[in-house]
Amino acid sequence: MKIAITGGAGFIGSGLALELQKDHEILIIDKMSSNELLDNGNLECFGHFKNLLDFDGELYVGDIRDEKTLQKIKNFKPDVIFHKAAISDTTVYNQNKILTTNLNTFKDFIELSIDINAKLIYASSASVYGNQPSPQKVGVEDPKNPYAFSKLMMDKIARKYYDKAHLVGLRYFNVYGKGEFYKN
Ligand SMILES: NC(=O)c1ccc[n+]([C@@H]2O[C@H](COP(=O)([O-])OP(=O)(O)OC[C@H]3O[C@@H](n4cnc5c(N)ncnc54)[C@H](O)[C@@H]3O)[C@@H](O)[C@H]2O)c1
Repeated sequence: MKIAITGGAGFIGSGLALELQKDHEILIIDKMSSNELLDNGNLECFGHFKNLLDFDGELYVGDIRDEKTLQKIKNFKPDVIFHKAAISDTTVYNQNKILTTNLNTFKDFIELSIDINAKLIYASSASVYGNQPSPQKVGVEDPKNPYAFSKLMMDKIARKYYDKAHLVGLRYFNVYGKGEFYKN
């Protein structure tokens, strides 16, 4: 298959790309780390070239908020899009910044996946549950920060497209492993 991975130079996305490239053609989309900092002093983007030293597919450096980036994915004609690109920092309180990056772009990705008949698998987050007691349940969410709120709003949009798009949202809990080093 042809597979596009947004956020593919990040922690989870790069692991996914390195595994999937064994059997599939991969396009990674990532803005990559720069000197841009968020209000809390942390890096805006964690995409790092060292995560991709063993990557053999195509890397396109672009912003998911940019029309040119969407066009790049469209031209690649993926069978599946793994949408991982996001501001993944839960301590960011600049609501405008996090929601324009994580939320506004999401509808574009759903529309794009419908348009090109690709499956869309996107990263939601267990943070949507906040401090709910275990066992946490879908439908009982209580986001405590703008990041978690952005993910919950993505899930709500996804539900609206349930009949029209082939999409799956994964509420990852705390992921651990190789490649996280570059998130500092
Ligand atoms: N790591 C976890 O424990 C965890 C838990 C729950 C959900 N998630 C979600 O899974 C996904 C991947 O998480 P991660 O831990 O790999 O985070 P990460 O920060 O390492 O990866 C996100 C990637 O997106 C890129 N990116 C950010 N803004 C972008 C933009 N505007 N345009 C293009 N690329 C951009 C970054 O450069 C980075 O490479 C994220 O959506 C995150 O919210 C992660």
